[in-house]
Amino acid sequence: MTTVPTIDLNDGSAIPQLGFGVFQIEPEDTAEAVRVALDAGYRHIDTAEMYGNERGVGEGIRAAGLDRGDVYITSKLSNAFHEPDAARRAFEGTLAELDTDHLDLFLIHWPLPTRYGGDFVSTWKTLEEFKADGRARSIGVSNFQVAHLERLAAEADVAPAVNQIELHPYLLNAEVRAYGEAHGIATEAWSPIAQGAVLDDPAVTAIAERLGRTPAQVVLRWHLQRRSIVFPKSTTPSRIEENFALFDFELEPGDVAAIEALDRGEEGRSGPHPDRFDFVPD
Ligand SMILES: NC(=O)c1ccc[n+]([C@@H]2O[C@H](COP(=O)([O-])OP(=O)(O)OC[C@H]3O[C@@H](n4cnc5c(N)ncnc54)[C@H](OP(=O)(O)O)[C@@H]3O)[C@@H](O)[C@H]2O)c1
Repeated sequence: MTTVPTIDLNDGSAIPQLGFGVFQIEPEDTAEAVRVALDAGYRHIDTAEMYGNERGVGEGIRAAGLDRGDVYITSKLSNAFHEPDAARRAFEGTLAELDTDHLDLFLIHWPLPTRYGGDFVSTWKTLEEFKADGRARSIGVSNFQVAHLERLAAEADVAPAVNQIELHPYLLNAEVRAYGEAHGIATEAWSPIAQGAVLDDPAVTAIAERLGRTPAQVVLRWHLQRRSIVFPKSTTPSRIEENFALFDFELEPGDVAAIEALDRGEEGRSGPHPDRFDFVPD
């Protein structure tokens, strides 16, 4: 069985560097996708309350016959529940849906600086409670910009263990990543293959052909060598296996640089901009 490397977090815990993401997997398909991923060897699942499929994640883990302690589970706070009492209820709901008494990692999904009076600090302090009482082993943020991280550093007691941001060859998100590196906040790269958009880039396919690997494997390996944490999503069993087969080859420094050179800056962003995103579900 392949052993996935871990990344040490700033709170003393460790996270498997490669996991399985379940964004946009239908609730009724999630348990089977998670079971297939766990059978393939993944031991880290990234879900969120807003994905509507936490229950399926819990079911998939049980269907795989694994103990809770064998799987690293991340979930995220819905944009609808940033106020402290709402966040406390939402966290309990997440634990109930996953049918577990703790999460390995719980994140604020988006900073929403134009909502809730711009107050993501009291939301963060509520996550600090979950860490203190042991129900969240680690806490972190997602889609936080440098200014948001600096505000937490100034006003909060606990530093985020991770920041989960959009990051792939077309959007290196270099400033946010560098801030994390300098301050001990691990970077998790969401949409690591840009939902497939980078896979037919000639720079990527040339490396893939030379190494006898697929473009997705090359891009995912690139993330691992840059020390990002990744959790590609797929509901295709052969791709779920393909995306896990990353530990028997290596990119040369020139390959890493060639893929970094694909950065398009803001034009490469495929998701919403964290400074402006203000979606709150009903
Ligand atoms: N924090 C946030 O705001 C945020 C936002 C977005 C995503 N995320 C997290 O990051 C995870 C990954 O991001 P993502 O789901 O947006 O995108 P992604 O993992 O970059 O790409 C997923 C897409 O690529 C396809 N694909 C997967 N493996 C492939 C392969 N080997 N060859 C060709 N195509 C392949 C999948 O198709 P099939 O499924 O049809 O195989 C799917 O359409 C999410 O699941 C979620 O956990 C977080």
